[in-house]
Amino acid sequence: MTEYQGTKGPQGSWEETYRRTAPGDLPWNAGMVDGDLKDALFALALDPGKAYDLGCGPGNDAAFLAREGWKVTAVDISPTALQLARQAEAKAGLEGKIQFVAADVLGLEGHGDAVLVNDRGCFHTLPSRHWADYVKSAAGLLKKGGILALKVFSFKEPDGAGGPYRFTPEELENLFEGSFEMVSLKEGVFHGPRKPYSLFGVFRKK
Ligand SMILES: C[S@@+](CC[C@H](N)C(=O)[O-])C[C@H]1O[C@@H](n2cnc3c(N)ncnc32)[C@H](O)[C@@H]1O
Repeated sequence: MTEYQGTKGPQGSWEETYRRTAPGDLPWNAGMVDGDLKDALFALALDPGKAYDLGCGPGNDAAFLAREGWKVTAVDISPTALQLARQAEAKAGLEGKIQFVAADVLGLEGHGDAVLVNDRGCFHTLPSRHWADYVKSAAGLLKKGGILALKVFSFKEPDGAGGPYRFTPEELENLFEGSFEMVSLKEGVFHGPRKPYSLFGVFRKK
C-alpha cells in the first residue's frame, strides 16, 4: 500500500471548509442519524452509557445518541463544526446534554470507560502514518467489550483526487485486530447528496 497523505476537507482545512460552506452543502451532512449506526445499536441492544462521536461534524449522530440516552462527548478539530453540532443539539431539545470538545482525535486522553465510540467519516481522512495511533486512541477511550462503530469510504468508491482513503475489508481487519475483534462489516453508502460507497464496521474492544 502506498502512503496516504490524508485530507483536510475540500477547502484545504476543516475549519475553512466549515466556515466557507453552507451546512446543507457539506457533502457528508445527511441531516439525520446514520442508518448503519442506528441499525447496529438496535442489533447490539447496548445499554446506553458513555459514548464518543469522533469527528462529529454537524452533530447528527451525536444528537441521536444523546436523544437515546447516551452520555455523549462530541469531538471535532473544527470549532465551527462544533457550533453546528450545538445547533443540532438545541434543535433536538437536548441543550446541555452533549459535551463538546474541540480537539484532535489522536490526542484524546482515554479513561477506558466508554461503551461506544462512533466515527462516521473521520478515520478515513487521517494520514496513514496516524492510523495505528488512531486505533490506540479509540481503544483507550473504550472499556473492555466496548464498541467502535466505524464508517469509511469503500474500495468500491472510484478514486477521487484528494478525497478520503478507500478501505478494503482486509485493511480494516488488519488495522484493528490488535485491539479489537471485528463483529460485523457491512457494505453500503454514505447517505447525503452524493452517496459514496461505504464500509461500516462494528468492532468490539478486546
Ligand atoms: C467527513 S466529515 C464527517 C463529519 C460527521 N461525522 C458526519 O458524518 O457528518 C469528517 C469530520 O472529521 C473532523 N476531523 C478530521 N480530522 C480530525 C481530527 N484529527 N480530529 C478531530 N476531528 C477531525 C472534520 O473536522 C470533520 O468534521
